[in-house]
Amino acid sequence: MATALCPGSFDPVTNGHLDIIERTARHFDDVLVAVIRNPQKSAPLFTLAEREEMLREVLAHVPNVRIDHFKGLLVDYAREHGAESIVKGLRAISDFDYELQMGQMNHQLSGIDTFFITTNPAYSFLSSSLVRDVARFGGDVSSMVPPSVAKRLDERFGADN
Ligand code: PNS
Repeated sequence: MATALCPGSFDPVTNGHLDIIERTARHFDDVLVAVIRNPQKSAPLFTLAEREEMLREVLAHVPNVRIDHFKGLLVDYAREHGAESIVKGLRAISDFDYELQMGQMNHQLSGIDTFFITTNPAYSFLSSSLVRDVARFGGDVSSMVPPSVAKRLDERFGADN
């Protein structure tokens, strides 16, 4: 059985993530979506449990997707869970430099290959951090995240606006 690993912070999951995971699930028997416990970038807006819960809600319709979390090196987690491939979305050239470097490092460490799926152009401008920013200041993110995620953002920031 071919298992693909889709890692990320998912703070929160966006329509762009959803598209990549759904497309990955068409090419692999089993897709393991792994949420990093402590994103390096900054303190997350949503707890690990909330980020996992949102992913479970929005991916409930895809039977070969599982949601989990990890800490430490991604390749250690991949090896422990029998994932032979890492799959990431590529939005733009700006993603490429960093993703190439990470893919090469992960391969050097473990022999695990990284595959890239081109982001749907409709979502190429989307990132969790921009969605958080827009939602924080009362902007409409309903076309950028699934309805259940929009609701949580509204609950989180609603009182501030
Ligand atoms: O959604 P993000 O924040 O872009 O995801 C980044 C993530 C979690 C995929 C990346 O930071 C990661 O793999 N971190 C785990 C630590 C690790 O293995 N570092 C070495 C990678 S070369």
